[in-house]
Amino acid sequence: MLLLLTILLLPLTQATCEWANQVPLLSDNYPTAISPDFMKYVEKVGKLFDVPGLSLGVVRKGHEAQFFNWGQRDEDGNSPTECTMYPMASASKNFASTSFGILMDDFKHGRNVTPLPYGVELDWETKLVDLLQDEWGLKDPYTSGHVKVIDLLSHVTGLPRHEFSYDLDTPLPHLVSQLQYLRPTHELRETFEYINLMYSVITRVIGKYSNMSYTSFVESRIFTRLGMTSTTFHPERAWQSRDWVQLWVREAGPYYNQTRVVPWYLEERAVDGPVSGPGGVVSNTKDMATYLGILLNGGIHPDTGEQLIPRAVLDSVMLGRVVEEGRASYPELAPTLYGAGWQSTGYQGHEIVQHGGGARGISTALLFLPNDGVGVVALCNGNNQHPALFALVFRIIEESLGLKRIDWISRCAGSLGYETREPNICQVEGSTLGVTVRASTVYPAATFTAATILGTGATLGTTRFHREYGAFIKSFRHLCQPRL
Ligand SMILES: *[C@@H]1O[C@H](CO)[C@@H](O)[C@H](O)[C@H]1NC(C)=O
Ligand SMILES: *[C@@H]1O[C@H](CO)[C@@H](O)[C@H](O)[C@H]1NC(C)=O
Repeated sequence: MLLLLTILLLPLTQATCEWANQVPLLSDNYPTAISPDFMKYVEKVGKLFDVPGLSLGVVRKGHEAQFFNWGQRDEDGNSPTECTMYPMASASKNFASTSFGILMDDFKHGRNVTPLPYGVELDWETKLVDLLQDEWGLKDPYTSGHVKVIDLLSHVTGLPRHEFSYDLDTPLPHLVSQLQYLRPTHELRETFEYINLMYSVITRVIGKYSNMSYTSFVESRIFTRLGMTSTTFHPERAWQSRDWVQLWVREAGPYYNQTRVVPWYLEERAVDGPVSGPGGVVSNTKDMATYLGILLNGGIHPDTGEQLIPRAVLDSVMLGRVVEEGRASYPELAPTLYGAGWQSTGYQGHEIVQHGGGARGISTALLFLPNDGVGVVALCNGNNQHPALFALVFRIIEESLGLKRIDWISRCAGSLGYETREPNICQVEGSTLGVTVRASTVYPAATFTAATILGTGATLGTTRFHREYGAFIKSFRHLCQPRL
């Protein structure tokens, strides 16, 4: 799903105030409620795309949220509801970037007195070497000395994913100390390269300067304050609630064509480990609807009027900085920019702020239209189900804003199994997030050298060099299609 494209950096000053100056369409054009007929469409998508279960939440500014659920949440055939807990995968990243912004705001207003290194301020532009000091080091000396917090969060460090250099149990300090062995593929800020690892690094920074664990900071400063009472980083809490999804993959078995339930990619013991930042949030559509409602309201609670997240923080994390996809794949869409844990794009002329997530057995999408007062959360307990989620999300936007109907079912069905069913494409599945990626595009052979992996020592595990992929693979299951 991620394409590595050439870079185009936006001057930050140019766009900072635009958001605030845009006239919202809300005053004379309220979004329309989703009709009950929509369930027929959901059912059609669910069946066609072979979806196990789905939970959708639709938020319209100034109205009660609407929820739609379909299919099954577990093998017993129980239905999901708006309370059913799902792991959010990468839709967790905006909580890491937003919590850094909140910490920054705490320092600026004297709410945090944890000592900072002499002469150092905590800001988006602060260099990692100043914040992590002796702990910090990258292979390329220039990048090491110049990379800023915002570079980490916008995926422009020049490092590729290096997904196999760590696992669920790698302690954060160890992960940070081993970064120096990971080979870059580009120069700093040369191009967009998605890397989960840097969202682990930011949690180390937040933990260090908030004087509490990353997950405690986010729980107290975001989940609790915003009234997201079920949302947590602790999978155990979801499992105890008894209302949680089992996860399915469709690529199990010797021919990669069997559907099976798989364990969650999160483990209780790994809370505050490498995965909490990039993909650790567990939530339901009810809480995410609350969150979207507050985001649509500029960080202000719709009932109490309290500013729960500083507006400047939201403006910073949602501001597109890097071109992620320089061309839209359909004429109704727009190119995609990456901010900090949020992407921005457009649909039929309406700006969308979004982030999707995918890990073993789970597909998620979290998005809102800041100028139109509409937000959508779409969660599915199946692997690689983004085509189904797109078909649903676009229909919701069309209905809400009275836009032209596009046949997204046909379009998305055309890309069904894009990542898994294409013949002659060999894939590897990472042990850490269970993310399925193409070896050929995401892991250029150059990023894997003996020094890269051997240098990391403790993470060797069952790593071996796989000649066919030109990559070091750690405890992976390779998904090579039978040749047709
Ligand atoms: C950090 O927290 C501990 C207790 O958890 C406290 O004793 C200490 O004073 C705090 N340090 C700072 C700098 O706030
Ligand atoms: C999977 O593929 C194999 C080999 O083509 C076939 O024999 C088997 O029936 C398939 N299983 C399913 C569940 O489709």
